[in-house]
Amino acid sequence: MKATVILDGKAVKSCTVLALTAEGKKVVTVEGLSNGSELHPIQQAFIKYGAPQCGYCTPGMVMATVAFLLDNPAPKEEEIKDDLSGNLCRCGGYKEYVKAVSAVVSGEFGRLPEGSEINA
Ligand code: FES
Repeated sequence: MKATVILDGKAVKSCTVLALTAEGKKVVTVEGLSNGSELHPIQQAFIKYGAPQCGYCTPGMVMATVAFLLDNPAPKEEEIKDDLSGNLCRCGGYKEYVKAVSAVVSGEFGRLPEGSEINA
């Protein structure tokens, strides 16, 4: 499972960042992704498309998807599948996650916040 956080607007794997290097920087975890009561478009899409089942993998899926779309805002379906394959979903909900990400990419949930706009 990927342990992704947004560090000063860039997606990083938290387990590979030395804590001292994050001092004074803005760190956004899945808990800080929403804008008050307004969920991030990826969170909205996962809910609408019924992607989470037990929810165990969902925070990782959300953050991995945020990071993926920061780097590649217009991926093809195969690229989405490839990226999500790095996150283990023991419920097997991959199809719904791919549908939800595809819907976000198509613009169904509006414009995605850029890295520096996330929880700004
Ligand atoms: S929804 Fe249960 S592990 Fe993914």
